[in-house]
Amino acid sequence: MTMMNQRVLLTARPSGIPQAEHFTIATAPVPEPGDGEFLVRNCYLGVEPAQRGWASAVANYSQPVPLGSPMRGFGAGVVIASRHEDAKVGDRLVGLFGWQSHALSRGDDVINRIEGREHKLSAYLGVLGISGITAYFGLLDIGRPKAGETVLVSTAAGAVGSAVGQIARLKGCRTIGIAGGPVKAAICRDEFRFDEALDYKAAGFEERLAAACGAGVDVYYDNTSGRISDAVLAHLNVGARVVICGTASVASWDPWPQGPRVERRLLVKRASMAGFLVTDYAARYAEAIAQLSRWVASGELRYREEVLDGIESAPDAIAGLYRGENLGRRVIRLCDESEVAAGRA
Ligand SMILES: NC(=O)c1ccc[n+]([C@@H]2O[C@H](COP(=O)([O-])OP(=O)(O)OC[C@H]3O[C@@H](n4cnc5c(N)ncnc54)[C@H](OP(=O)(O)O)[C@@H]3O)[C@@H](O)[C@H]2O)c1
Repeated sequence: MTMMNQRVLLTARPSGIPQAEHFTIATAPVPEPGDGEFLVRNCYLGVEPAQRGWASAVANYSQPVPLGSPMRGFGAGVVIASRHEDAKVGDRLVGLFGWQSHALSRGDDVINRIEGREHKLSAYLGVLGISGITAYFGLLDIGRPKAGETVLVSTAAGAVGSAVGQIARLKGCRTIGIAGGPVKAAICRDEFRFDEALDYKAAGFEERLAAACGAGVDVYYDNTSGRISDAVLAHLNVGARVVICGTASVASWDPWPQGPRVERRLLVKRASMAGFLVTDYAARYAEAIAQLSRWVASGELRYREEVLDGIESAPDAIAGLYRGENLGRRVIRLCDESEVAAGRA
């Protein structure tokens, strides 16, 4: 029987956040690897806020996903056939394999060849994957936190934010997390050990923020932009560093949103603000993964993941992130590694 590839195609162009109706699930025969290619069976797919940008018509740091193609996305899976000298059947890989059950690769879309069995495969999409790596380099290279400083992060209960807070804590910083709703704020405090956690959706956010930031903010790791940033930027310390990592609160860039002018705040506090893109650090991913793996193994770095079951959950999954539904790193489970090994998937 012909093996079928289940694919989540981008079939309509969203003007803002991609919704379920912008995708179609379709099947096609699984391709055979040619010379220099191998075939990956994706066990997990990652769901990224960045997929909003990838689905839009506007080229940003990467080209728009062509209509009718599988949605660009990370996958974690196992090599099931290979005509590539560096990939053998059974290898566990993470890469930009697309939202599909089976992906042909020449190796250039691989971001990690997983060694060892200490951590579960799905973790390599999150805390030991693009989320953890983003937190690691964004905080340490751009934020440059020093012991005793205050580090504040938005989307603090999420995949990147929770790792930022904990890495800052490991560096001896005081940590403040901002998240949406009382459940997420409690998770930030109790599970991710933030010194302070603030629910930005509850009344009196600006006043509570001012109280929590009594000593000022030295590093603001900004995952949201918008009204959270407008409030936080009023509390920068002299020499503060602002890491612009994400803009989760901005629903659309057309029309371009207007906000408070930040120049005066940066000038008065001699603060700096820098954009950060994790792919600029591709040559150093292994260094981050090694350190993150040690922290996870020792229990110093905790993580949460939220597993959606089956490819049918993919079309609505990005919109769900922007509704703030996810409690932890959102991934989609397609099959277990054991099923692949047994030839059942
Ligand atoms: N620059 C890079 O290279 C890079 C790489 C990876 C990720 N990122 C960025 O890092 C950020 C976090 O990504 P993640 O993968 O860890 O996702 P995540 O935090 O696990 O999930 C996204 C979260 O965004 C928050 N959010 C959604 N709409 C919002 C709104 N209107 N206002 C405020 N918050 C809102 C929600 O948290 P609440 O319920 O708490 O609001 C939601 O759970 C995103 O901005 C992403 O684009 C950047």
